[in-house]
Amino acid sequence: MTYLPSEKRYNSMKYNRCGRSGLKLPAVSLGLWHNFGGVDAFENSRAMIHKAFDLGITHFDLANNYGPPPGSAEENFGRILKQDMRAYRDEMVISTKAGYYMWEGPYGDWGSRKYLLSSLDQSLKRMGLEYVDIFYHHRPDPDTPLEETMGALDQAVRQGKALYVGLSNYSAEQTQKAVDILKQLGTPCLIHQPSYSMFNRWIEDGLLEVLEKEGIGCIAFSPLAQGMLTDKYLKGIPEDSRAAKPHGYLKEREITEERLNKIRKLNQLAEERGQTLAQMALAWILRDGRVTSVLIGASKVSQIEENAAALNNLDFTQEELKRIDVILMA
Ligand SMILES: NC(=O)c1ccc[n+]([C@@H]2O[C@H](COP(=O)([O-])OP(=O)(O)OC[C@H]3O[C@@H](n4cnc5c(N)ncnc54)[C@H](OP(=O)(O)O)[C@@H]3O)[C@@H](O)[C@H]2O)c1
Repeated sequence: MTYLPSEKRYNSMKYNRCGRSGLKLPAVSLGLWHNFGGVDAFENSRAMIHKAFDLGITHFDLANNYGPPPGSAEENFGRILKQDMRAYRDEMVISTKAGYYMWEGPYGDWGSRKYLLSSLDQSLKRMGLEYVDIFYHHRPDPDTPLEETMGALDQAVRQGKALYVGLSNYSAEQTQKAVDILKQLGTPCLIHQPSYSMFNRWIEDGLLEVLEKEGIGCIAFSPLAQGMLTDKYLKGIPEDSRAAKPHGYLKEREITEERLNKIRKLNQLAEERGQTLAQMALAWILRDGRVTSVLIGASKVSQIEENAAALNNLDFTQEELKRIDVILMA
């Protein structure tokens, strides 16, 4: 079946400037951490990429180790690009990362120049790309000098293998140091990718200030707390949910009664606002102008449709925001 993207794909998506850079990102981006690996149904992964692109989701986020098995999400994405979307490469922003365990021996993990640059070469090969738009260091490395890791990101850009660079999971303090080094090297940090959701607000405590001051974008990962900030766990653990899958990162034990209590109350508020909880959870993240994009995951085409429609109601009254804080802090 030939894929022809929707002609309306740029009609409803919002595009936000990434910090003070020239690049705009869709307010909703799609990540391929779960559900795009070798263990997943390829045709479903393919349909989700098509639907996302049809809805104006131009940004796809990967990492060397996404699967399982590690590397298979990049391979599958490469296959979909080659089969269906070659002609649209310049309409897409594709990112990948290195920083977690990827291969055996001392050179397949953390933050050395050796690891980062060979991993990027492998990622390009798996995806069949000449360059990625954004190359991230996936997590800080306590043992490698930051100058070496940032030097590797700078080199990736100079080699033409990445257009921009980013940091993920760096604290506010680590970010400031890394950003200063990158500036000196002449390759500014484009974006930071931290976890952020109603259940996980650590970036409000310093990181967002650093990003704003430095003109760096912010793309929030796991904005739905891996699915908990939806109505899916209100009546037990569905068989096809992430919490039920052996390779899923969300564990059943994380869905506690205390959490469910909050989810119920949030769900009620979302209903009053005329949207689903997933939509309200995404809109709530986008309430902060310093956040460029919410980086969702999905296991079904319908979830991508529902989540993109969060943009239909992004406004909160002060009273609603207060109610959310009270629910979350109870
Ligand atoms: N930099 C890092 O260290 C890091 C770490 C984690 C993730 N990420 C990035 O962030 C992306 C998103 O992370 P995430 O998958 O944890 O994000 P998430 O959006 O918090 O969770 C996605 C999961 O929630 C469920 N879901 C999504 N929309 C739904 C809806 N409308 N109704 C019901 N359930 C819904 C689906 O799970 P079911 O399978 O249960 O349907 C889906 O797979 C990743 O793909 C990756 O690109 C980066």
